[in-house]
Amino acid sequence: MDLEKLKQEFEKDLSLIKEKKDLENIRIKYLGRKSDLSLFFESLKNLPVEEKKEKAKKAQSLREFIFESIRKKETLFKETHKEEILDISQPGILKETGHFHPLTLVLNEIIEVFQKLGFEVVEGPEIETEYYNFDALRIPKEHPARDMWDTLWLKSKVKSQKSKLLLRTHTSPMQIRYMETHQPPFRIIVPGKTFRHEATDLSHDIQFHQVEGLMVSKDTSFSNFKSIVEDFLKVIFKNEVNIRFRPSYFPFVTPGVEVDIKLKSKENKWLEVMGAGMVHPQLYEIVGYKEKGLQGFAFGLGVERIAMIKYKINDIRLFTSSDIRFLKQF
Ligand code: FA5
Repeated sequence: MDLEKLKQEFEKDLSLIKEKKDLENIRIKYLGRKSDLSLFFESLKNLPVEEKKEKAKKAQSLREFIFESIRKKETLFKETHKEEILDISQPGILKETGHFHPLTLVLNEIIEVFQKLGFEVVEGPEIETEYYNFDALRIPKEHPARDMWDTLWLKSKVKSQKSKLLLRTHTSPMQIRYMETHQPPFRIIVPGKTFRHEATDLSHDIQFHQVEGLMVSKDTSFSNFKSIVEDFLKVIFKNEVNIRFRPSYFPFVTPGVEVDIKLKSKENKWLEVMGAGMVHPQLYEIVGYKEKGLQGFAFGLGVERIAMIKYKINDIRLFTSSDIRFLKQF
């Protein structure tokens, strides 16, 4: 048999194959038990050894060639087949992307509203001195009012600081720091972390965020405060909120109030969201203002409380739980 001719015939057949399934036919035709090549091997049985060896070698290399060619064509089909089934009209698989924490979302929103109302954003230190956190705010040592803020004291002391160090219990120390270095009129907000050494429950955590507000000029009134706070809360809660002002006491304001809110749509409980009031006149003396007749208001807003009402979260501790099921909802 002419192996060269067989090879040419095979190559021609292979080149005509258009579909993968037809490859099996060609495999049977050229490599099967009844193929010309197999019969050729059979026929070598009775030949003299030398002749048998030589012919078998040639036939074996043809067999390998056929086998390899079919395999290559098969791979080619597999690759092109992949492209055939690529359906570009199918919706893609969305990659998971990161997103902001709910507190960051609310904080950004709060900042944006106050910026639109003309407030400048400033920040202050989380590690404070006893002087700025308490004394300068008219909360002297041993005074019962200090019990309102359970404090986390720090052991280390900075030599140049005469007063003891602590983690700030509120953002109010920035009232003093800012007024020491700026003259009225001004309006600022101070967002930041605050810390308290207290038992946690559904609405109290040991670390939370406040936004301090301070507006001072010659004629800032309590009405200004009320309207700004009402405007702010209505924007944040899209008008769906009831607001309540309650008299309260903070040594650095007079008079002092607390503000509670409740969603109109829900029969839920009032939640206290801020302490506030008119800046105590003694604070102007403490920071060294010479100008007389200054008036201003200050407030300290609980960011977690706002986020809890806005997103209907019933446990403040969820914010720091790192529970992915909770975080994925925002
Ligand atoms: C203060 O911290 C005052 N510095 C607020 C202030 C500022 C009064 C300026 C007058 C003038 P109070 O301790 O009430 O006040 O806290 C203010 C707000 O922080 C509360 O209304 C509440 O929303 C939030 N808050 C207080 N303690 C916690 C806590 N443990 N966990 C979460 N939020 C808290």
